[in-house]
Amino acid sequence: MNKKRILTGDNATGKLHIGHLVGSLENRVKLQQEYETFIIIADMHSFAYPKYVDKPEIVSESILQVTIGNLAAGLDPEKTHFFPESAIPEIYELAIILSMLTPHNRALRNPTIKEEIKEKGMGDNYSLGFINFPNLQAADILCVQADLVPVGEDQLPHIELTKELARKFNNTYGKTFKEPEALVGEVRRLVGTDGNTKMSKSLGNTIYLDESPEALKEKVMHMYTDPNRIHPTDPGKVEGNPVFIYHDTFNPNKEEVSDLKERYTKGTVGDVEVKEKLVSALDTYIAPIRERYTYYENHIDEVKNILEEGVITTKKEAKATLELAKERMQLPKY
Ligand code: TRP
Repeated sequence: MNKKRILTGDNATGKLHIGHLVGSLENRVKLQQEYETFIIIADMHSFAYPKYVDKPEIVSESILQVTIGNLAAGLDPEKTHFFPESAIPEIYELAIILSMLTPHNRALRNPTIKEEIKEKGMGDNYSLGFINFPNLQAADILCVQADLVPVGEDQLPHIELTKELARKFNNTYGKTFKEPEALVGEVRRLVGTDGNTKMSKSLGNTIYLDESPEALKEKVMHMYTDPNRIHPTDPGKVEGNPVFIYHDTFNPNKEEVSDLKERYTKGTVGDVEVKEKLVSALDTYIAPIRERYTYYENHIDEVKNILEEGVITTKKEAKATLELAKERMQLPKY
């Protein structure tokens, strides 16, 4: 019997960080035995952002960085199909087809799109491609007939759209696409080191998967905590405190965490001790990932081969899907 499929991925807009790890990468790693897994490095998606339009060299370099990030997180290159979006032109063709079924209003109402416009200060200076971004993502997913899409919470509106488009196409032209389901990680959205609700490179509040022990320490020691706590003897607030959110997420020593929380609440522990223990927990967590990261950075040819193989497999699937879709639409075959 054929395995069910996962398709997910990341935009090619810089290195992956620990927010990606708990939002989606961990699910990818966990499910890779059970599902045939396709990882898209969405390089065309990157050009949807005004910031990257004139930075092709950053997008290009990010393709490798994002692939390495996924490999470092623990995806098995023997089993996983990695591919850059731009290598599969069938995706663009499918995106145009899907855009015919997408109500224009609905595209403008997408909550993640609206949030990004605001967060990135785009005003009304965004492209048609940006508004069409969720359609392109739907095409990514549908072209390999994915069953499951592990993503961070912010991506849920796009997966919802994908499902609706699959259903609409099937109802209009006959059964063609699978309707995929989204799967969100245990930590739906990891706060940044500065306490911002989202960890993101553009906000400068990230911890990268290959963060060096020194940089990791520096970032944690500067983390935002309870702003009302001035002295170690002041009773502090644990809830919503980024340092404790990270302890809960990355420190497997639950006893240590609850002891720190208790003393923090009472005002009998300093920020320094809480942070030093977090540095140690995070370092243990990241160490094997960092090691694999360094390995692949030193073996770029291996990474390029992995992408090449992934493109061959994905192309076959995408071609078959597109052929079927066009046949259903009664488009002529020449
Ligand atoms: N847009 C996603 C993000 O910002 C990345 C992505 C592109 C994706 N294509 C995808 C995720 C297809 C899941 C499925 O993270």
